[in-house]
Amino acid sequence: MCGIVGYIGYKKTKEILLDGLSELEYRGYDSAGIAVLQNHTFSIFKTVGKLVNLKQKTKSYHPEGFAVGIGHTRWATHGKPTELNAHPHLGENSYVVHNGIIENYVPLKHELQQKGVKFLSQTDTEVIVWLFESELKSSSTPFEAFKKTLSRLKGSYAILLVSKSREDTIFFAKGGSPLILGINNADEKYFASSDAPLISHCKDVVYLEDGDFGYVTPSEITLIGANGIQKMPSFKVLATDKLSAQKDGYRFFMEKEIYEQSDVIADTLLGRLKDTHIAFEELDKDFFKGINEIKLCACGTSYHCALAASYLFERYAKIKVSVEIASEFRYKKPLLFKDMLFIAISQSGETADTLESLKMAKNAGLKTLTVCNVDNSSMVRQSDAAIFTRAGIEKGVASTKAFATQMAVFWMLSIYLADKKHSLQKDEIQKHISLLREVPACVKVDEEMHEKITRLSKRYLHGHGFFYIGRDIFYPLALEGALKLKEISYLHAEGYPSGEMKHGPIALADPELFTIALLPNHMLYEKTKSNVEELSARDSTICVISPQQFKKADDFIQTKQTSHYMLEFFEMMVATQLLALEIAVRLGHDIDMPRNLAKSVTVE
Ligand code: AGP
Repeated sequence: MCGIVGYIGYKKTKEILLDGLSELEYRGYDSAGIAVLQNHTFSIFKTVGKLVNLKQKTKSYHPEGFAVGIGHTRWATHGKPTELNAHPHLGENSYVVHNGIIENYVPLKHELQQKGVKFLSQTDTEVIVWLFESELKSSSTPFEAFKKTLSRLKGSYAILLVSKSREDTIFFAKGGSPLILGINNADEKYFASSDAPLISHCKDVVYLEDGDFGYVTPSEITLIGANGIQKMPSFKVLATDKLSAQKDGYRFFMEKEIYEQSDVIADTLLGRLKDTHIAFEELDKDFFKGINEIKLCACGTSYHCALAASYLFERYAKIKVSVEIASEFRYKKPLLFKDMLFIAISQSGETADTLESLKMAKNAGLKTLTVCNVDNSSMVRQSDAAIFTRAGIEKGVASTKAFATQMAVFWMLSIYLADKKHSLQKDEIQKHISLLREVPACVKVDEEMHEKITRLSKRYLHGHGFFYIGRDIFYPLALEGALKLKEISYLHAEGYPSGEMKHGPIALADPELFTIALLPNHMLYEKTKSNVEELSARDSTICVISPQQFKKADDFIQTKQTSHYMLEFFEMMVATQLLALEIAVRLGHDIDMPRNLAKSVTVE
């Protein structure tokens, strides 16, 4: 989604801004721009499409010496992806970049139009800079004008503003969207909406909190907290491990991330699987005390993990579980009780709907836990405890290894809780620990299987849709398989519990409907098989993923014989990821940055 960078200093400002934006590229965007203020003059460049266009446009621009710059990648929400709508947005003498949504921009825009302001863009963001210009006329300092501007905004934002009214300064504010300030020893200041652009420049960073605002100059940082009182910035050392990612010879980040799953799951398990029990250092020993129900809340792939986790918690830890899509949970006025544990699941830790749901649960007095891949993310900072999935940076917009590690965490967590609640015998717990140790080997990509899937993929490029079907925990996996395919192939795909077919969906069955059937040996094999036969009888084209040959299938992807359904789950997960990948490759799509999608969805 939208990305922000900012820089004050003496180095190559253009390169710093463009490199920073490149680091944010994987998050998804459709236009980009930079504004540099130097010697009382603004230089401004904006382009639609990929950053390479912006790089081309700025090719002959080389600012030398001290400069103040801001940059932005925009994922369109208000107004189409056009140059006019791209950030930075200009007032009279100031430019602004903004992530988030200004919800009251319509009345603000009317008010400013009545004062004679002519808006150039269709964005909500442009009101920020015009409000600032308007407040400037009646304020004693530009900072006072900035403060007054912020007090008029409703919605979510991370804002950087530069103005000729105070040339050596970047004004900043955070309200709901992430923003990080970085410093080094060279009197430079950096801003970014996530860690990655800061890594090669700063060691010390401040993760700004909601309500924080202020300004920086080369020699000064003024930071005001949500209560309006000035505060000391609280610096943290920027963790640099696993943050930079290269393709390492793979065609796409997504492919690399599928192949990496074995290693990252090994990291997820590290130190947590003991001989006789499972340990989570992050949780104090009484963390689950007084908890009688778990509410799992997430979006997209993380929601599929939540659904899958609900089967494990109920089956092994015998605890009541409800699963919520965050964007629904926020507005349904849910019943919340103090004996519920609220678990937010998020790769990024920044997804706006999940973050707001977490805040709601917290405000209602619930104990909160975040299962997350990003240290220091907003959700991690908001919750009572956090468990890290340790997948390392995930660049492909279509999540793969993040999901895999989330699933490993929840399998462990359900057994951890089962142990606490004595709902499993000691020998059963040990059995799960041994099985968990097998997961890294089981998700190692089998080259033969990959080759087979590549060959098969050519038969699945047309048709009127895909059904992914499975039962029990293989139903959320079917949902996830369908989402993967949709995201990168743009083909229509739905996941269903296989028992639901006859209640309506089977009406679509014909040879042009492709069914991807998840048929594990150790979970309701016969039941699922009957459902697949029903589809086969209606001539749907069927691809079965199973350890057992299935005669009535048109195509067959064979998984290994294992001793447990969870190992089958992980292996089938890899098969569905590869199938989506190879279909999308044949269709010639952008695998890592599919159209219309963003890696981190920081608007609701
Ligand atoms: C996954 O492939 C998606 N791109 C998307 O559904 C994602 O899982 C969702 O936006 C939630 O993101 P989060 O895990 O970072 O909160």
